[in-house]
Amino acid sequence: MAVFYVILSWTVLFLLFLLFIAFLGFCMYMKYIHMAYDYIPGPPRDNFLLGHIPTFLRALKNGDVIHDTFLEWSANYGPVCRINFLHQIMVLVTSPEGTKEILMSPKYPKDNAYKKIGNLFGMRFLGNGLLTAQDHEQWYKQRRIMDPAFSSLYLRGLMDNFDERAEKLMTKLTDVADNQAEASMLQLMNSVTLDVIAKIAFGVDLDQIKDKSVFTKAIELTLKGMVYNIRDIFFQYYPKNQPFIKEVKEACRLLRATGTQWINERKTAMLNGEDVPKDILTQIIKTAGKEDSMTSEDEELMLDNFVTFFIAGQETTANQLAFCIQELTRHPDILEKLKNEVDDVIGMKQIIIYDDLGKLIYLSQVLKETLRLYPIAPGTTRAIPEDTVIDGIKLPKGAVCFFNTYTTGRMEQFFKDPLTFDPDRFHPDAPKPYYCYFPFSLGPRACLGQNFAQMEAKLIMAKLIQRFDFTLSPGQSFDILDNGTLKPKSGVVCSIRHRKHNT
Ligand code: HEM
Repeated sequence: MAVFYVILSWTVLFLLFLLFIAFLGFCMYMKYIHMAYDYIPGPPRDNFLLGHIPTFLRALKNGDVIHDTFLEWSANYGPVCRINFLHQIMVLVTSPEGTKEILMSPKYPKDNAYKKIGNLFGMRFLGNGLLTAQDHEQWYKQRRIMDPAFSSLYLRGLMDNFDERAEKLMTKLTDVADNQAEASMLQLMNSVTLDVIAKIAFGVDLDQIKDKSVFTKAIELTLKGMVYNIRDIFFQYYPKNQPFIKEVKEACRLLRATGTQWINERKTAMLNGEDVPKDILTQIIKTAGKEDSMTSEDEELMLDNFVTFFIAGQETTANQLAFCIQELTRHPDILEKLKNEVDDVIGMKQIIIYDDLGKLIYLSQVLKETLRLYPIAPGTTRAIPEDTVIDGIKLPKGAVCFFNTYTTGRMEQFFKDPLTFDPDRFHPDAPKPYYCYFPFSLGPRACLGQNFAQMEAKLIMAKLIQRFDFTLSPGQSFDILDNGTLKPKSGVVCSIRHRKHNT
């Protein structure tokens, strides 16, 4: 027995020794990384091993907007700013030329952070769908198939559907105004954008405006999970986080199960020769192989894209609308100008047609300015496959480049008085921002739904302004909630009244 204990102790000692050597090796590797790349300007690390990760964790814990830290760093360390994420070198690039060079080129693929969105706490989430695919060929094949469902011609044909959903929101707002009551505009916008995406993308009538949605909650949860999964590398290992992770996985399961159900219903309709719309769902089904040669990976890919569009198509537009309404409550002059434009273009018409939207030029400006100060999806990252020089600084092969439109959108060097909400920055005659404003990203991986989103946002804003006055309720803050996407923290609760028109 004594011999057994001696052997056990030696084995434990030996293992501890190996662990110590591995740790020492890792420390030496970290030292090497620091020595090799500290020529790139950047803030002091919080920690030798973790680098700047503690800053990210503090922001998460305190509910701060991490993008404000990036703004501070780029002001202090310049347009190419190093961030250490354990052994990974991330470089925050704010120079327009650097942004142009990298984002506009297909040479720089999305980096491995997208794997953590593809797979959430070990569960397939957005997988290899359009947003998260890293391989260029795999992405390009999907994008080509999806493009027709977002062409202006196709969207124009959907105007009635958009209008019908927006009218449901107006009915709800009429109830609120009749009762002289208050409503969370964020919540209402979430419901209407969910109804729109379900109907227009997937041909399903949800009518979420009436009921608080389980889907909105599921989307919120998965996005929150995504932020923790990316920004806190140890998050999933703490026992105290397990209940939250379980909830996130359930939300993920709900979204994918809904996808399975809706895809199967559509496939059955197609097999029965029914007349199905050429909508996003039909295109998603086309991204997979032919029915008889469909692999389980093809099936999963369809679900990846289903969830991608469900999320990308809903939360983003809802948050933009809510921020826009919030800003208008404190800019009566801008609101007045908008009312005049809407009255001129739409008047008292109930149904808005596609061509009307093109005439709402000031409204476009207001929506663009909203996304400058509140870009819903502020950042994107790219892998650097070869040594590359940006702004005279060598970015090493293997580094990750990080672009942030929240940061550039609030930099004095690009936008005078950056914190002032001023839609005239986007006046048709004003110079276009040069690679410093990209709320829909830029280049080949830019948002596919940009036109869809702005058509929807304009339609809803036009109807809202045409019919209602809204005032922010006391106690509402203008704070931003950084939940992966940005949203107004206090929900934009407003009192709603019928607009009095001068006759
Ligand atoms: C205000 C609304 C929206 C904003 C601000 C927005 C923003 C963005 C951004 C910044 C990206 C790039 C993300 C990255 O690089 O990680 C993106 C990609 C994408 N968005 Fe949007 N989006 C909006 C609405 C929509 C809508 C309505 C849809 C679909 C109906 C959509 C579908 C997509 C898709 C499929 C991609 C991936 C494109 C690709 O890689 O080929 N988005 N969006």
